[in-house]
Amino acid sequence: MRRMVAETRLHPSDLILPAFVREGIAEPVPIQAMPGVVQHTRDTLRKAAVEACEAGVAGIMLFGVPEDAKKDALGTAGTDPEGILQVAIRDVRAEVGDDLVVMSDLCLDEYTDHGHCGVLAADGRVDNDATLERYAEMAQVQADAGVHVVGPSGMMDGQIGVVRDALDTIGKEDVSVLAYTAKYSSAFYGPFREAVGSSLRGDRKTYQQDPANARESLRELALDLEEGADMVMVKPAGPYLDILAEVAASVDVPVAAYQISGEYAMVEAAAEKGWIDREAAIAETLLGIRRAGARMILTYWATEAARRLSAGR
Ligand code: PBG
Repeated sequence: MRRMVAETRLHPSDLILPAFVREGIAEPVPIQAMPGVVQHTRDTLRKAAVEACEAGVAGIMLFGVPEDAKKDALGTAGTDPEGILQVAIRDVRAEVGDDLVVMSDLCLDEYTDHGHCGVLAADGRVDNDATLERYAEMAQVQADAGVHVVGPSGMMDGQIGVVRDALDTIGKEDVSVLAYTAKYSSAFYGPFREAVGSSLRGDRKTYQQDPANARESLRELALDLEEGADMVMVKPAGPYLDILAEVAASVDVPVAAYQISGEYAMVEAAAEKGWIDREAAIAETLLGIRRAGARMILTYWATEAARRLSAGR
């Protein structure tokens, strides 16, 4: 009876798998703070993409981790056609074609030696407009590599418009833009910083949103839509379900939510201690995010959860 009258259902195709690929490693490297998640080699990334696809997952969001020596102030590895992310996009497209939506993180933090999402001005602050020029170039190399969707995650003002124009200029009108619309400055990104070997000292409070503010998200949303966002995202997911519900109620584009590294780590850690029923907790967090209005959910449990859903559990 509960099954029959359930208002919310999850399906494997609601899920998107975020995945890390690291340059110059021969074996996958486990991420300590995210048990079960690894930095992939190019080869294991291809396998993970195939597995996700076979499990019915809808998409994969790729993050590149360059060799430390390749990080610099401008994050040039992020716009090098032979940079790790571009190479990985080509690998994954060659493997899965159009069977999985291939998405890429469009941000400089993985590639800068200071770890910020943008380039810095002389006074050490992130230079919004100089960063936009870098993002335009990133969008073009990622599109040339064959990505279906770019995900600008740096929270610079005007980034969606600039990325859209950059793509259209080179004839990549078909590449979609997933806007990180409401991205809060969150403590729950902690494990991700290990995952991408971030060099960041300090925080991102000058460009990510204040957890105290909700209305600001609606302003960000209006701007992103005006600038041409095809899909919008709220991040983190669990602590921001109110924002997600409000965004979902006010737009007619698909809405995504990103269940981030810290949300993953908390459940895994509690489960490891035997304090929580792991599978039930995973299912409940995903259902909650779906119920709040997310059409798509980015989750590190995507493949596992999709398999369980297909098995009817
Ligand atoms: C920025 C970016 C971050 C995440 C995705 N894109 C980190 C940040 O803003 O500090 C976090 C994802 C996660 O925590 O799982 N490129």
